[in-house]
Amino acid sequence: MRYNSPMSSFHYRQGTLHCEDVPLAHIARAVGTPCYVYSYSAIRERYLRLDRALSGVPHLICYAMKACSNQAILRTLIREGAGLEIVAGGELYRALAAGADPRKIIYAGVGKRTDEIANALRSDVLLLNVESAQEMKAIEGIAAGLGKQAHVALRLNPDVDPATHPYIATGLRQAKFGMEVGEARRLVRGRQRLAHVEIVGVHVHIGSQITQLAPFIEATQRVVAFVRSLQAEGLTIRYVNLGGGLGIAYQDERPPSLEEWATALAEVAASLGRTLILEPGRALVGEAGALLTQVLYTKQNTARRFVVVDAAMNDLIRPSLYDAYHPILPLEKARGQATPVRVDVVGPVCESSDFLAVMNAGAYGFSMASNYNSRPLAAEVLVRDNTYFLIRERQALEDLIRGEHVPTFLRDEG
Ligand code: LLP
Repeated sequence: MRYNSPMSSFHYRQGTLHCEDVPLAHIARAVGTPCYVYSYSAIRERYLRLDRALSGVPHLICYAMKACSNQAILRTLIREGAGLEIVAGGELYRALAAGADPRKIIYAGVGKRTDEIANALRSDVLLLNVESAQEMKAIEGIAAGLGKQAHVALRLNPDVDPATHPYIATGLRQAKFGMEVGEARRLVRGRQRLAHVEIVGVHVHIGSQITQLAPFIEATQRVVAFVRSLQAEGLTIRYVNLGGGLGIAYQDERPPSLEEWATALAEVAASLGRTLILEPGRALVGEAGALLTQVLYTKQNTARRFVVVDAAMNDLIRPSLYDAYHPILPLEKARGQATPVRVDVVGPVCESSDFLAVMNAGAYGFSMASNYNSRPLAAEVLVRDNTYFLIRERQALEDLIRGEHVPTFLRDEG
């Protein structure tokens, strides 16, 4: 099993679960739980592997920061040359605060507000991905007002089934994302009317946690055919953005490797000779993070055994939202003969105050956390070699009511 391999960023040494060279129990005791822990080298190495796999073609890797957007994680990738894919004004703010080069930022998303588009244009982001004719019109108007030239990519809906959970499938015709080829072509034909917009790219993103190559290849083929047809109309595209979506092994999935994914897509798109863009999120950070939690109680009724831990759905919503599976490991392996039992948190028998690690929680873990039940957001820690760094403090109770106002009529008079 991979957690026994010292090559893995999370692994057991003498029965103790480590992230790189740091025993996770140290972090759990010092920082408290629940707490997200990320491996610096794991994230960096995955990015570099992808970058190397694409070295034969002009390319840009734009990390989909929605997967995990802590400033330290963004910097880890930015420093290696990564661009960022953003989907909201708040992400633009985070990206720029982390020192991202706006010329490597791509702004995607079906519902960009006027102020968000204006800020992106003022910041000179590389591309805005356009998802509808109305959005194109809005961008034209906003760019005109700012005296700017907007560079856009058309997001196609390729009508490809990514064979993933329906909530994270985006490339089927019934999805809200992108435009059908006919609609995209109409926008291209009407481009003379757009004095402040230049169509320079084509974008596709068919979904997330995709574990086969075939849907990626099919979508890429449609993009290639579309870009060729645009050439026939006299429009030369500079950027071919094939999105993200590569899955990871949560359980027994066998997704293609980063190299297999990148080379397969590059092969299909290479004949176009354009700059290839990829927007991976999960594949870069998913396996590089774990959520540490403490066992509070164990209990049993006539139907089941329960292990009650101090991390909840507000910390990691993926199981409740997508029926997602995350392996759970004890920070200390049981000594001697322990009989495994089936509990609602799968693992060996746990005594109170045992610590557990919920694995593969680096992507869409903290970034989807909420304050539900008025639970403060968890702390985040980055491990590098034998050192760990607190990269986000646990939220304080005062943070929970920051910005709330009580109208005067509800205030008790002194
Ligand atoms: N590009 C675009 C336009 C996207 O919408 C997404 C993710 C990505 C790239 C990155 O996809 P990735 O490489 O991470 O699969 N919350 C869900 C995942 C939602 C993904 C949304 N879009 C989950 O926890 O599984």
